[in-house]
Amino acid sequence: MEKEGFMDTDFDRIAEALEKWIEEYTQSAFSSTVVEEASNPKNLRRLAEPDAHGRVRGWCGDTMEIYLRLVGGQIEVATFMTDGCGPTLACGSMLTKMVADSSIEEALAITPAQLIDALGGLPSEHAHCAELAVRTLRQAMENLANPIDKASE
Ligand code: FES
Repeated sequence: MEKEGFMDTDFDRIAEALEKWIEEYTQSAFSSTVVEEASNPKNLRRLAEPDAHGRVRGWCGDTMEIYLRLVGGQIEVATFMTDGCGPTLACGSMLTKMVADSSIEEALAITPAQLIDALGGLPSEHAHCAELAVRTLRQAMENLANPIDKASE
């Protein structure tokens, strides 16, 4: 069953990531915000015809994509997709909420440390998940003049 903004394979992949995440969570000390955002991620979908799109693969091999729709220089809608871990789902969810209704300048100023703070902290071995999300957002904004970066597909 296909849903707008999703491919069939997304469901299996996301379910698998969540299952691994629940396993990992039961053995680790994640904040309640990380648990909530990873278990119930907001804005997890692709946007058709976005004004900007970024896709970055982190050193861990996981990929994040961010899709932006802008109105009058403000980010009206921000969504994401990832094949990464539970904390990456939490980072994408929180970051896309943080940039909604922001100007490009405000969104560009967000740092991985601010994202980690908004999540109530992340274990140091998952700090790179926040870096991946912020790098992807910045790449999307760099691609504003060239909405879908064909070179990275
Ligand atoms: Fe790869 Fe989280 S482990 S982004």
